[in-house]
Amino acid sequence: RAFRRGSGRATFALEARPNAHATHPASDRTRAMKFFIDTADTAAIKELNDLGMVDGVTTNPSLILKAGRDILEVTKEICDMVSGPVSAEVVATEAREMIAEGMKLSTIAPNIAIKVPLTWDGLTASEGLKVNVTLCFSAAQAILAAKAGAAFVSPFIGRLDDIHLDGVDLIHDIRTIYDNYDFKTEILAASIRSVNHIVDCAKIGADVMTAPPA
Ligand code: G3P
Repeated sequence: RAFRRGSGRATFALEARPNAHATHPASDRTRAMKFFIDTADTAAIKELNDLGMVDGVTTNPSLILKAGRDILEVTKEICDMVSGPVSAEVVATEAREMIAEGMKLSTIAPNIAIKVPLTWDGLTASEGLKVNVTLCFSAAQAILAAKAGAAFVSPFIGRLDDIHLDGVDLIHDIRTIYDNYDFKTEILAASIRSVNHIVDCAKIGADVMTAPPA
């Protein structure tokens, strides 16, 4: 629901104002916020991709389980469909195992981003891999992800709202910190639950948002 309703409006509004992010001079973010789709449902990806709405895809073990498909097979199919980054998540919890799993996933396609949890092991595994560091719940964690050279950090907005914290505030804090130091890690707002989340993220200047197709 979050993705479908109002998503087009948010994209076009930003594209019509190429300087919409001028309040963040440290970064070259003159492009529209990217829309990733948070699913392993290839039919849904195809439908939105055909509309030109998919800049990338995020998956996780629960989404793969829901799709009822083999992870390598379904991830390959998604990578063939979408030219932007496709996040595939490791299930290992120890750094060396994460690296081995990540290397295997990386062979699927050049546009794979390895999703690792924001733990010390996840950060250790990040070196040398194109990673999306996920399960970010604080600005301090986001600093560590950027220092580790992550391509993406995924703060979980909805999960923070669930525990009566403000997920959107976290996006704001991370934007400020990354701009202060010109960190290149892209802020990938995840656990999006509403159109308001998307609009708030666009106002703040999140680089990417990922939302389910319906
Ligand atoms: O991208 C993160 C997502 O899969 C989790 O979302 O709504 O279950 O918190 P949610």
